[in-house]
Amino acid sequence: MPKWSYENDIAYDEIDISKIQDNDFLFNLLAIASFIEITSDIYAVNLSDYYKDCDEAVAWLNDVWELEEVQHGKALRRYVNQVWPNFNWQRSYDIFLKSYLPLCSVESFQPTQAKEMLARMIVETGTSTFYHALEEYSKDLKEPVLGRLAYLINKDEVNHYGYFDHYFKYYNKHEKNGRSDIVKVIINRLKEANDEDVKLGFYAVHEHINSNQSQKEAFDLFHESISEYAKKYYPYNMAIKMMLHPLDLNSMVASTVTPILKQAMRILGV
Ligand SMILES: [Fe+2]
Ligand SMILES: [Fe+2]
Repeated sequence: MPKWSYENDIAYDEIDISKIQDNDFLFNLLAIASFIEITSDIYAVNLSDYYKDCDEAVAWLNDVWELEEVQHGKALRRYVNQVWPNFNWQRSYDIFLKSYLPLCSVESFQPTQAKEMLARMIVETGTSTFYHALEEYSKDLKEPVLGRLAYLINKDEVNHYGYFDHYFKYYNKHEKNGRSDIVKVIINRLKEANDEDVKLGFYAVHEHINSNQSQKEAFDLFHESISEYAKKYYPYNMAIKMMLHPLDLNSMVASTVTPILKQAMRILGV
């Protein structure tokens, strides 16, 4: 069961709509996040199958992870509907799902069970840091309902990271992936993420833009806005700490590479 309820614990009626209703950037961000989160049920089915040898992992994936991720999507959808009632969420989501489903296949999984757990840790690093940034952003927007929602989701994502870490260690006892294998998975997963899901979400939200060229131009502008937003709000140190954790580096090495990675992530716009 989720630790909080999107229906009872978020005061959607108290959102100060006037502060954010003209904020297209926030609208895009939340609509796209709602699409991706709510589709986690597909991943839960695939992951449960991939880890069917471990009843405990399957039980956690189905009884906790899936319910929490889908709840994130439902909470964001309700928030979006409350602030932007003219947006036809379902219509855009149907468009999104059609293009996104092929990316959700088991074929896109890592070749081994430990490596896929590691990849899930990177995904959870992405979501944890995303909601952390959103919470910070909500302070500047002076919109506390969004802040509370981002805070609650962030806590769940950090918790998911911990579980995937636990299962990564469980499977890696047998697989014995070393640091170079781990680095390869992390880099590949980061490359793969490459905003494809965000792009599909954006295109679905803006399906009324007919020509591919103008859709691409609109997305490029949105992407530039994300980079500006990240410079201000993205918790780089938190992201690096979470990504380095599976490498089990000693603290001196970790503190030496952190500023280098931080600089690299900023330059690459990660
Ligand atoms: Fe989530
Ligand atoms: Fe998560």
